[in-house]
Amino acid sequence: MPAAWPWPRVLAHRCGGALAPENTLAGLPVAVAAGCRGVEFDVMLSADGVPVLIHDETLERTSNGRGAVADTPYAALRGLDAGSWFAARFAGERIPTLAEAAERCTALGLAVNLEIKPSSGREAQTGEVAAGLASRLWSAAVLPPLLSSFSETALDAARRRAPELPRGLLVEGVPADFAARCARLGAVALHVADAGLQRAQVDAVRAAGLHLAVYTVNEPPRAAELLAWGVDCVITDRPDLIRVS
Ligand code: G3P
Ligand code: MG
Repeated sequence: MPAAWPWPRVLAHRCGGALAPENTLAGLPVAVAAGCRGVEFDVMLSADGVPVLIHDETLERTSNGRGAVADTPYAALRGLDAGSWFAARFAGERIPTLAEAAERCTALGLAVNLEIKPSSGREAQTGEVAAGLASRLWSAAVLPPLLSSFSETALDAARRRAPELPRGLLVEGVPADFAARCARLGAVALHVADAGLQRAQVDAVRAAGLHLAVYTVNEPPRAAELLAWGVDCVITDRPDLIRVS
């Protein structure tokens, strides 16, 4: 069995889950108000290499910008509205930098699962830059951020740049070779999608000495079931509904 899981057992997905525009600073106090003590967010690089919080490779869905994040310098990202698409009361909300998010999370006492979300072709660079900056931003923290990624290239680069930061491998289903892949990456956790996850798979991951985080769990009975099975953490869009002591 793995050592004790040090992060909160419920993490709000993309900062505030479904309660605020995703990957914005506005989501952080919303998560706190819902009773959450930790958040997950996505980190991608601007054209000029600034790590910012955004999920999609393109700007259209979650901002009033157009085009690829990877083609847009930070100075232009900075001017975009990342809140109006969600609700008028969030108008003017910005795409935050990783540094801004880290500062606000620290001030609010929020633990962090930092998902490295590289745009295509920038996997190693994103892993290296995000991990290097995270190492500095959380250098005084008691609890480090948990880095995760679907990209093993990004996780390898993160490990080289900041080997002290814990890593989790993101997958959809539990792959047959999960233990070997996590061992090769030096990952402490597997982060799996909820759909179809069975108790035997949870048992197998834990028996391999790995932590298990599950995304995206929005129904309280399912969250309770997963946590009772021994899942370490659920990542949710509904931190207002899914609460554990
Ligand atoms: O880290 C868990 C989850 O955020 C992974 O999926 O697409 O929401 O980033 P996605
Ligand atoms: Mg994510």
